[in-house]
Amino acid sequence: MGKVIAIANQKGGVGKTTMAINLAAALAVLDIKVLIIDADPQANATSGVGVRPEQISITTYECLTEGVHPADGIVATSTPNLYILPSSIDLVGAEIELVNTAEREYKMRQLIEKIKDQYDYIFIDCLPSLGLITLNALSSADSVIVPVQCEFFSLEGFGKLKDTISLVQQSLNPDLEIEGIVLSMYDQRLRMANMVLEEIRTIISDRIFETIIHRNSKIGEAPSLGQPVVVYDVSSKGAINFLNLAKEFLTIQETENIFQNQ
Ligand SMILES: Nc1ncnc2c1ncn2[C@@H]1O[C@H](COP(=O)(O)OP(=O)(O)OP(=O)(O)O)[C@@H](O)[C@H]1O
Ligand SMILES: [Mg+2]
Repeated sequence: MGKVIAIANQKGGVGKTTMAINLAAALAVLDIKVLIIDADPQANATSGVGVRPEQISITTYECLTEGVHPADGIVATSTPNLYILPSSIDLVGAEIELVNTAEREYKMRQLIEKIKDQYDYIFIDCLPSLGLITLNALSSADSVIVPVQCEFFSLEGFGKLKDTISLVQQSLNPDLEIEGIVLSMYDQRLRMANMVLEEIRTIISDRIFETIIHRNSKIGEAPSLGQPVVVYDVSSKGAINFLNLAKEFLTIQETENIFQNQ
C-alpha cells in the first residue's frame, strides 16, 4: 500500500510544487515507484515533469468530480518510476462543483483508493489555499509535508494551516500526521535567512527536516525544460539537496515502520 503525502502551505510560491516534483523524482531515482497527483489548477507539477498537452486526456478534475478512474489519466513521465495524474485549469471549477455533493471532502480519498496499492509513495501537490481541494488532499493523506521559505513572514499563516490540520485530524482524518517542515529557498549569503532559520527552529515544535533546500538556479531552470533537477543536472547543489532529502525521508519511514511493527 502506498503512503500518501500532501504537500501543503496556503502561502503561494513557497516551493510546494518544486518539493513535489523533486522529492518524488529523487525517490524515483532511488528505484521507488512514485505518483504525483497534481491538485492545483495552475498545473505547474504537470508541466514541470514534462507532460505535454497531447499526453493529457483525463485529469484530476474528472477523477474528483465525475469519479473517472485515475488509471485512465495517469501518465508515465520521462523519469523512470515517476508517474503523474495531471491537472488543468478545469480544476478551478471543482471547488464549487463539489460543494453540494455527498462526501465532498472524501473525493480525493476515493480516487486514491483505486490506485493506492500500485505505488510506494503518492505525493499530492496542493494549491495555495485551504479550500475544498486542499481539505480533500488532507483527508486522504497519511501525512503532510509543509515547505517553509527562509524569509521573514514565512510563518505568517502557519498557525492557520496548523488549525486546519488539527480540524482535519479531529473530524475527517484522525490518522493524519505532520511528516515535517522542509526549509526551502535558503540563501546562506543572506544574514536574514540565517536569522529566519533560527527563529523557525525556536517557534516550530514539529519535525524540521535536517536537509535544507538551498536557492539554486538549476532548481529554477529545470521545470522550464520539463525535468526534475535530479535529471536536469544531477551534480547540481539542488539535485544533491533533494537526493539528501529523499534519503532522510526514507530513513524516517524505516524508523517509523520498525516502531509500528513492534
Ligand atoms: N530552491 C529553489 N531555488 C531556486 N528556485 C526555486 C527554488 N524553489 C522554488 N523555486 C522557484 O520559485 C518559484 C515558486 O516555487 P513553486 O512553484 O515550487 O512554489 P509553490 O508553493 O508551488 O507555488 P504556488 O503556491 O503558486 O503553487 C518557481 O519559479 C520555482 O522554480
Ligand atoms: Mg505550486
